[in-house]
Amino acid sequence: MVEVTDVDDPLVGPDYVLIDVAVAGVNPVDWKIVAGYLQGAFPHHLPLIPGWDVAGEVVAVGPAVTEVALGDQVAAYARKDHVQNGTFAELVAVSVRSVAKLPDGVDIVDAGAVPLAGLTAAQLMDAARVAAGDTVLVHAAGGGVGSFAVQLAVLRGARVIGTGSASSHDYLQGLGAEPVEYGDGLVDGVRNLAPAGVDVVIDLIGGAALAATSQLLSAEGRVASIVDADAVKEFGGRYVFVRPDGVMLGGLLRHVADGDLRVHLAERFPLERAGDALAASKAGHVRGKVVITV
Ligand SMILES: NC(=O)c1ccc[n+]([C@@H]2O[C@H](COP(=O)([O-])OP(=O)(O)OC[C@H]3O[C@@H](n4cnc5c(N)ncnc54)[C@H](OP(=O)(O)O)[C@@H]3O)[C@@H](O)[C@H]2O)c1
Repeated sequence: MVEVTDVDDPLVGPDYVLIDVAVAGVNPVDWKIVAGYLQGAFPHHLPLIPGWDVAGEVVAVGPAVTEVALGDQVAAYARKDHVQNGTFAELVAVSVRSVAKLPDGVDIVDAGAVPLAGLTAAQLMDAARVAAGDTVLVHAAGGGVGSFAVQLAVLRGARVIGTGSASSHDYLQGLGAEPVEYGDGLVDGVRNLAPAGVDVVIDLIGGAALAATSQLLSAEGRVASIVDADAVKEFGGRYVFVRPDGVMLGGLLRHVADGDLRVHLAERFPLERAGDALAASKAGHVRGKVVITV
């Protein structure tokens, strides 16, 4: 159960930044943490504040911080080694390693939607070595990670095929993908567009979609998944678990500032409705990103 309550202000370590939270991006991992699904992966401590994405203003810095200053607008993927003091809060302390300053012209609400999903997409591009001329299949292309993955692959000069329900196909085309419906017609739909197979599979859903790799990937193709570590390795592929990286996040935000990476906001919730924001994510059909504004 999620409730809004008062807790002590966070401690600010020597290389930490205290952020006055304006926006907290919502990701599926947040409802999974609240449900207890990650207890085998990280130590958890109660009371637990969910949330791994943040954008806001720097209101204090530890004595070893030189990269940002009071009053700077910043964003961060704020995952730590222990799960407790998350971003669905008025204040959060984050290691400066994870923090990026907002370039001029980036809307703070957009910035709060970028960190986890944007970094995941960028790290998938590197893991699968997406390059100009590749045909890239992105499963679940219309979600948080998928929307960024499609755009980043297009920026690298790839041709992108993206899966989503029929109602998402206009949205996927707007991102730069050729849409294919998931489900029974998936393999035929992709083969119609890429008869020789695709060069890269980016798997954001697992299950039947990832299993179809054997029918869809070209002989020299690469595959990366963020969902199923075991299955992707059967195809000789890479499992990616997104890492905080302030420098890489800064690069993504510059793309946003330049207008070549767009952020689509599906829904905004006030902090008091954090439970509804988690439920919206859990329903599994978010188009773009859900955010909490504080
Ligand atoms: N390992 C990592 O580091 C990492 C990082 C980020 C996320 N993840 C995980 O990766 C998954 C995706 O994350 P996300 O933030 O992109 O989620 P999301 O935003 O909730 O994804 C929603 C999208 O999934 C699509 N979808 C639902 N069922 C589908 C299916 N059977 N086939 C294809 N698409 C389907 C929906 O399309 P329609 O609305 O058109 O149905 C919707 O656009 C989640 O399980 C998340 O926990 C892992």
